[in-house]
Amino acid sequence: MRLFLIVVMILTLISCSKSEQSSASSPSISFNATQDGSPILIDASQFDTPAAKNFLKTGKNDYIGQDEAIAKGKKLFQLYSCTQCHGGNAGGQTGPSLHGPNFNYAKDATNKGMFETIWHGTNGGMGAKGRGLMDPSDASAGLSPDEVLLIQAWIRSHNPSLTGN
Ligand code: HEC
Repeated sequence: MRLFLIVVMILTLISCSKSEQSSASSPSISFNATQDGSPILIDASQFDTPAAKNFLKTGKNDYIGQDEAIAKGKKLFQLYSCTQCHGGNAGGQTGPSLHGPNFNYAKDATNKGMFETIWHGTNGGMGAKGRGLMDPSDASAGLSPDEVLLIQAWIRSHNPSLTGN
């Protein structure tokens, strides 16, 4: 009986320390460069809207399917000249179509993967568009995380069967 109690106590201690560990661990997802998978560090303070904060936690884009976000994303897609390479409907021009489901980088079928590609660019002609990366001489130039999510909502609106979430 005493042995049984000791075992129960030990098991309780182990489960307590486990739950402490998981609550102490960071609630954020991590990002990897499309070029080589190396980690990309983006300051959490850049995720400054409810949708961006939730994306940092879950990798899910809350703007998918939201009309207002899609309209804003379309404007940003034009403003940042994405149209010049990907076409007015993101259906492809000198750059590839962004409609999917087939992508140059398979991970672009997920919103986290496509976010990484837009933020940090590729080795095949797609420049980084993330804030601070687009123009090395201007830390404020480039898309905020929230703006990337808005653009992505517009891109995904062309193929509603692929939400990426
Ligand atoms: C100067 C031309 C150019 C501009 C401007 C440009 N892209 Fe690209 N983009 C490319 C090229 C070329 C590729 C293919 C790169 C590769 O295969 O490595 C690409 C690839 C991509 C991909 C990956 C597609 C796949 O099949 O995996 C995404 C997503 C993307 N671009 C989004 C954007 C967005 C959003 C913008 C605007 C913020 C933008 N691009 C602006 C040229 C451009």
